[in-house]
Amino acid sequence: MSYENIIFEVKEDGVGLLTVNRPKSLNALNPQTLDEINNVLDVIEKEQSVKVLVITGAGEKAFIAGADISEFPKMNSLQAYLFAEKGQRLFFRIEQLPIPVIACVNGFALGGGCELAMSCDFIYASDKAKFGQPEINLGIIPGFGGTQRLARLVGRAKAKELCMTGEMISAEEAKAIGLVAKVFPAESLLEETLKIASSLAKKSQVAIRAIKRVIDEGIGSDLRSGCELEANTFALTFVSEDAKEGVAAFLEKRKPNFKGGFTS
Ligand code: COA
Repeated sequence: MSYENIIFEVKEDGVGLLTVNRPKSLNALNPQTLDEINNVLDVIEKEQSVKVLVITGAGEKAFIAGADISEFPKMNSLQAYLFAEKGQRLFFRIEQLPIPVIACVNGFALGGGCELAMSCDFIYASDKAKFGQPEINLGIIPGFGGTQRLARLVGRAKAKELCMTGEMISAEEAKAIGLVAKVFPAESLLEETLKIASSLAKKSQVAIRAIKRVIDEGIGSDLRSGCELEANTFALTFVSEDAKEGVAAFLEKRKPNFKGGFTS
C-alpha cells in the first residue's frame, strides 16, 4: 500500500518511524489517515522486524491537531459513532502492539492527537508542545478514548478539568501531571527519542514485551491478580535465552547481546 498521509520508514536498528504527514491541516486525522496507520500496524505485526515504533507529526507546528474537523459537517450521528469506533479500534491496536510505541510530540497534540499519544506506551514532548482535549469548544466530547485514557493517566478531577475547559497545557505542565515522560528542546526531540528507541531495540525483546503486557493487563485487575501475573511472567522470562545471556554477561563483566527466544 502506498501512503498519501503518512510516511513510514524502518531504520537499520529496528526502529520504525511513522510520521503523520498532513502539515497543511496540522496533521489532522481523517479516515484515510487512520486506515494508513492501521496498515502500518498490519505490516509491523506481519514482518516482525520493527522492535520499537516511534510516532510523530510532520512540520514544526503540530504533532496532530485532532480529528479532521472538515469531515464533521458530512456526518450524521451514526457516522459519528462509526468514526469514533474506527479511531478507538486503531488506538487499541496501537496500545496492544507487543512492541514499545513512543509518541514523539513535536507540537500541538489536541483532541485525537492527545488521544493517539495516550495510546502509546509513553510520551516524549518538545518544549513547544501543547496538549489538550478542546472538543468542548465544538460542542462535542472526545471520541477516540480521551475521556477514559486521560482519567486513567492523570486522575479523574484533572481529566474533567481539561475536557470541560478545553484548555491547552504546556509540555512542562503535561509532565507535571504525569501525561508526558520527558521534555526535550524542540531541535533535539526527534534525535533524543530515536536514541532512546534504539537503546530499547537492543534490550531483551522477551523482557520488553513481558513488561508491556504485565503492566497493561495488571493495572486493569486487582493488585493480587496483577502480582500473580507478574510472578508467572517473571518465571517465564527467567528461562529465556535472553535471561541466560543477561546474567552471564553481568557475571563476565561484559555487555549482553540479546537475541530473544526461549530455551526448549
Ligand atoms: N481539523 C481540520 N483542519 C485543521 C485542524 C483540525 N483538527 N486543526 C487545524 N486545522 C487546519 C486549519 O483549518 C488551518 O487550515 P487553513 O490553512 O486551510 O485555514 C490549518 O490547519 C492551520 O490551522 P490554524 O487554525 O490556522 O493555525 P493556528 O496556529 O491559528 O491554530 C490550533 C492552531 C491548533 C490552535 C487551531 O488550528 C485549532 O484550534 N485546531 C483545532 C483543534 C481541535 O479542536 N481539535 C479537536 C478536534 S475534534
